[in-house]
Amino acid sequence: MPVLPFKWESSFLEVLDQRLLPGTIKTIRCHSPADVAQVIRDMAVRGAPAIGCCAAYGMALAIKKNSKSQALNSKHKGIPYLEFRISSLELRQLTAAAHLLKAARPTAVNLAWAVDKMMNFASDLSTGGNLFRAMVDEAKRIESQDVHANRAIGKWGASLLKKNSIVLTHCNAGALATAGYGTALGVIREGHSKGKIKKVFVDETRPYLQGARLTAWELDQEHIPHELITDNMAAHFMKTEKVAAVIVGCDRVAANGDTANKIGTYGVAVLARYHGIPFYVAMPVSTLDLTINSGAEIPIEDRSSDEVVMVGKMRIAPLHTRARHPAFDVTPASLITAIITEHGVVKPPYTKNLRKLKWTTQKP
Ligand code: MRU
Repeated sequence: MPVLPFKWESSFLEVLDQRLLPGTIKTIRCHSPADVAQVIRDMAVRGAPAIGCCAAYGMALAIKKNSKSQALNSKHKGIPYLEFRISSLELRQLTAAAHLLKAARPTAVNLAWAVDKMMNFASDLSTGGNLFRAMVDEAKRIESQDVHANRAIGKWGASLLKKNSIVLTHCNAGALATAGYGTALGVIREGHSKGKIKKVFVDETRPYLQGARLTAWELDQEHIPHELITDNMAAHFMKTEKVAAVIVGCDRVAANGDTANKIGTYGVAVLARYHGIPFYVAMPVSTLDLTINSGAEIPIEDRSSDEVVMVGKMRIAPLHTRARHPAFDVTPASLITAIITEHGVVKPPYTKNLRKLKWTTQKP
């Protein structure tokens, strides 16, 4: 059973501190939206779907303290019942929480998607019951839908692979980055169970080392053959070993298929095209942003210079050297062979085919 990145514990959210992996297993308890925003900002929890799910619980935590005050004594045909309605105070608390959570990390659209979903859910609620409980249940639905989506992505993606394939992945789009199972790693998990994975090349993924610390850890736990490579080795191995496919996750996909993912993904896509290797993006529909036409509109998170000049506690650059640190880059749609979703595999032209997604009901 893989370790999960977060867990709801009846009145608080427990988050696995991924900054300490693989050496130390330690959790952090979040009791408020501010706590959740902080673990997202500091990357104790990371990965687009995982931060979306945590933000959904963060929204529930925004109204926790006042939830009882919202049960009004009403009567219907003379029969008393407890009616629940969202108060203006709660609306203000939710709005403040939404701003805080959305600002925690700007690139992954799952964060804003989950927050908006929770906001709409609360505003539309008109049934009897307890607001806090109802919101927690909605967050749980978002969480379980993500796991189902990942399982389906796994099946669709594995159908693209031949027996004994060598694949390459970048960053961590595994169980740790989602509500469980993973997107790109979901494809690899499912592919491995069907005898389709001979070996996974794992890019270490500078500067945060999600590949070395997290993807390698997940693969190791499941005994999936893998080799860790530094990011600058990818071209060499694409040339010298038979890499059959590159499979990566994503943080936001624009209407034309341009895809934001961990910094370095764009370079891997360029290399894949040069070597004639298919480049697949695994995407739950919650990562699709049809409100933007192209990748030029995707906000790219700028993170601290320290995360580049330091490796762990050791400084590797001169004291006064500042580093650039865009956390993501955008891979143009023209370099993407196909986008694997829970509803099926989408091929170009993406502008036309991504819009059709919601109406697709094929089974993997
Ligand atoms: O900065 P991170 O670690 O949150 O970046 C994660 C990625 O880029 C993942 O590939 C992406 O979120 C997809 S996770 C299923």
